[in-house]
Amino acid sequence: MSSARKFAVYGNPIKHSKSPIIHTAFAAQFGHRIEYRAVRVELGDFERSARAFFERGGAGLNVTVPFKPEAAAFADRLSERARRAGAANTLHPAADGAILGDNTDGLGLVRDMVVNLGWAVQGARVLVLGAGGAARGVLEPLLLERPHSLYIANRTASKAGELAGIFGELGDVAGGGLEDLEGRAFDLVINATSAGLSGEVPPLPPAMLTERSCCYDMVYGAEPTAFMRWAAQHAAWAVADGLGMLVEQAAESYYRWHQARPETGPVIRQVREVLAAAA
Ligand code: ATR
Repeated sequence: MSSARKFAVYGNPIKHSKSPIIHTAFAAQFGHRIEYRAVRVELGDFERSARAFFERGGAGLNVTVPFKPEAAAFADRLSERARRAGAANTLHPAADGAILGDNTDGLGLVRDMVVNLGWAVQGARVLVLGAGGAARGVLEPLLLERPHSLYIANRTASKAGELAGIFGELGDVAGGGLEDLEGRAFDLVINATSAGLSGEVPPLPPAMLTERSCCYDMVYGAEPTAFMRWAAQHAAWAVADGLGMLVEQAAESYYRWHQARPETGPVIRQVREVLAAAA
């Protein structure tokens, strides 16, 4: 019997990573034999660690905060979306030994919204809050869904403008400050800021929501996030956190590594239970 193929997620911090649970659950669906570890990598040590992982025969690596830009630089070849995002979350060796880098975050976000939640991106007026790595990682797959328009609003307006410039060739994209949201309305609002990590919600005009607005927070937890609570208080039509995105981006990685598409619904429910039990 062949030995288990080796996978890992590299990040810092990594203690609360759900990726080992998710990939192990996927593998069980197919009877694949895998070993999947969460590894805390010291800052400045990513390249050495990743090289050693693949030299030891590692079959696939997920990469999370703060190493996604370094993972993109490390890859020998990058998918178009990873190149434009300037970040990779999925690495694996090609047949010729070259390391391929991809970014499955945006695919995961779109799949969770469109397939799992039934929210329309196509034709929607989309607002992305934030202009850091999390926002940049999802813009290309969002734009490929052909929204009516996509507005990037950020506390630091210039950064939103820069991203709008980078992604403008993919659709109707504009950027500005949070204060520029006054007088605008959106069908779909995606929170890609890190404000929620300290329990904050960016200052947002409630009038930007309509009775049809769907609000998605890319972070998740055992309880609804501060942004979800804000959206519900202001009568958003639907709200969701980023747990589905987490599982869907993992499924996209899994597909690249195993050429098999796992069922995500049961795994989303399983991780939700794990979060509740730990709370
Ligand atoms: P990440 O990789 O999570 O995107 P990041 O690159 O540091 O992390 O970006 C964090 C994003 O959250 C930025 O858009 C940041 O706004 P600034 O560019 O103005 O710093 C945004 N952010 C963080 N805390 C915030 C807060 N309290 N209110 C509004 N925006 C916030």
